[in-house]
Amino acid sequence: MRRRGKSAVLYPGSFDPVTLGHEDIARRTLKVADRVIVAVAESSSGGRAPAFPLGDRLEMLREVFAGEAAIECVSFGGLLVDFARARDVRAVVRGLRAVSDFEYEFQMAQMNRELHPDLEFIFLTPDARLSFLSASLVREVARLGGDVSPFVSPSVLRRLEQRFRAGTGQ
Ligand code: PNS
Repeated sequence: MRRRGKSAVLYPGSFDPVTLGHEDIARRTLKVADRVIVAVAESSSGGRAPAFPLGDRLEMLREVFAGEAAIECVSFGGLLVDFARARDVRAVVRGLRAVSDFEYEFQMAQMNRELHPDLEFIFLTPDARLSFLSASLVREVARLGGDVSPFVSPSVLRRLEQRFRAGTGQ
């Protein structure tokens, strides 16, 4: 059997912003793949406007994974399946925190399979201490002036502080 180059897994998301939960999933993926391509989507799910522009979300990813050669951070527009084809990637990883994530992830995986039957979805669970964490909760707490330092890397914390100045919601 022809061995492709090093196995790469795509880790797509909105990353608005990247949390310690996302970081945990990306690093765990390296236990089952040689490389991870963390791919931040131009549009966030549900069509709502992201809190951070695409360039900022990508910069934050690059900052938190700086120096980790096996983790590449990129952005993509359009369909995930088209991006997977363009990068010749055969597997996608997503984090599964709780049963509540399952329906959305299952629907998305099945739709993507209709569009690209050769693309496989792998689901990893985060560290239990991070299983309640979501970017939307981090944004809400930061916007209202709460301390989100336990949930994001220091560089992301600085961006959140700039974005939501001391609970003014601006
Ligand atoms: O972090 P999120 O918001 O749960 O990530 C969702 C994401 C970005 C993975 C999903 O919305 C996506 O794949 N967007 C790209 C556009 C696309 O392919 N949509 C069809 C999904 S079935």
